[in-house]
Amino acid sequence: MTTSPPSLYQPVPCDIVSVSDLTPDEKLFRVIRSDGAPLGHLPGQFLQISLPGWGEAPISVASSPTRGNSFELGVRRVGSLTSELHRRGAGKRIGIRGPFGRPFDLLFLGGQDLLLISGGCGLAPLRSLIQYCQDRAEEFGSVTILHGAKNPDHLLFKNEISSWESTARFACGLTVDDTAPGGCYDGNLGQVTSLIPPLQLDPLRTVAIIVGPPVMYRSVIHELERKGLHAGRIVVSLERQMQCGVGKCGHCSIEHLLCCKDGPVFLLSEIEHLRGAL
Ligand SMILES: Cc1cc2nc3c(=O)[nH]c(=O)nc-3n(C[C@H](O)[C@H](O)[C@H](O)COP(=O)(O)OP(=O)(O)OC[C@H]3O[C@@H](n4cnc5c(N)ncnc54)[C@H](O)[C@@H]3O)c2cc1C
Ligand code: FES
Repeated sequence: MTTSPPSLYQPVPCDIVSVSDLTPDEKLFRVIRSDGAPLGHLPGQFLQISLPGWGEAPISVASSPTRGNSFELGVRRVGSLTSELHRRGAGKRIGIRGPFGRPFDLLFLGGQDLLLISGGCGLAPLRSLIQYCQDRAEEFGSVTILHGAKNPDHLLFKNEISSWESTARFACGLTVDDTAPGGCYDGNLGQVTSLIPPLQLDPLRTVAIIVGPPVMYRSVIHELERKGLHAGRIVVSLERQMQCGVGKCGHCSIEHLLCCKDGPVFLLSEIEHLRGAL
């Protein structure tokens, strides 16, 4: 796979190619470097997105490097930069630094059954890996995707789920915390943890990857441990407030580790004993 050196300090100009609504709070941006060069990322990495006058924010790449030179970002409107980004449409320019951070270890995942568990916006970085597994299916065992959202309107990538379900050896489970009165949702109700007990999985052949809000990790890990998965087979992607993104400022520290450089992807066995990691 082609990888170009990341832009460490100087933002590289990029153009927004298209924007689509994912949920009332999240949009999907298709972006390309203005020089047309490939981004050179791997699934699990993030970019520092910049808008002059609005600062920077770390955002995961939501598309696979196997899908061409343009790339996608799933962005939730949270504060100043992400709200301004949501106001920008196709043809507008943004800056990026990166790709940064430790990606998912594709060699370690090769030949394994993958159990991908996300909550809320956590499906965005996992989508990069999901697309990669679709495009390189021969390198992996089965792929099971479990996703939880607060309500049906907030389920991410709804229009892609049928394409994931119809991929050989892929399976999907969705659930929502709550449904709107009078809505027509007839799927699972409850937290994403409720989808784990019915699974048939081989704990010696399965690697689980968890990406979601902090509140989700402990309960998901508990259910996975009940299935016999040990901490060396559970991967987590963590979020911390970031500034430099390249291991210089210390803003993202988890004890001796830096989330931007040593992570954001960690094996549970690497971080479970660190204070404040989960
Ligand atoms: C590695 C990484 C990958 C990420 N990937 C995505 C992604 O793919 N899509 C996405 O929508 N978001 C992602 N985020 C979160 C995103 O970076 C923040 O939502 C964004 O920085 C908010 O910027 P803002 O200027 O809009 O908000 P601000 O105005 O800076 O902040 C609004 C509020 O959010 C809080 N906040 C900001 N950043 C964080 C953070 N990282 N953790 C906890 N609270 C925070 C602030 O303290 C403040 O209360 C990621 C974060 C990290 C660290
Ligand atoms: S964001 Fe500066 S060290 Fe991680």
